[in-house]
Amino acid sequence: MTQLTIRSGSWDELQQDAKFIREQVFIQEQNIPVVDEWDDQDDISQHFVIYDQAQPVATGRLLQNNSVGRVAVLKSHRGLGMGKMIMLHMIEQAKKQKREFLKLSSQVHAMPFYAGLGFIAEGDEYLDCGIAHIDMYLKLD
Ligand code: COA
Repeated sequence: MTQLTIRSGSWDELQQDAKFIREQVFIQEQNIPVVDEWDDQDDISQHFVIYDQAQPVATGRLLQNNSVGRVAVLKSHRGLGMGKMIMLHMIEQAKKQKREFLKLSSQVHAMPFYAGLGFIAEGDEYLDCGIAHIDMYLKLD
């Protein structure tokens, strides 16, 4: 890992790079069905991609309804602070946009990751695409 850059933009601008990551992480690694991975929210969300030199390595999206979603880091780049970097960038953007809160549906294994960023779990666990999830919430100042 050398030079990191982060870009945000529309689906038109970033879909090629975001898809590259999401296909590897959600479809191939986590076996999420293709029909569930791509939805009508991509077109109207703000997308974020981190690049290690020219290679896209992490992504996430910020929906109009204050949801953060599709947060994924390539397996080869996990545990290096990429997930935290993209989340902190999305939180910063959300604050600039005067959003009052962020919410997300966390895979249960990722709860400690989001909790470390200040998100608080709400309600009971539920299954989505066969994976245990829990809702989490972050109030923004
Ligand atoms: N359990 C506990 N803590 C975790 C964790 C986990 N699964 N993953 C990360 N953390 C902690 C790290 O230890 C680190 O703590 P620190 O700030 O005290 O050092 C902090 O969270 C940030 O870790 P980071 O290196 O930025 O995480 P990452 O780049 O590996 O990304 C995920 C984390 C969850 C995004 C990544 O594992 C991933 O893409 N998983 C597959 C896709 C997925 O499940 N996405 C979540 C969908 S809800």
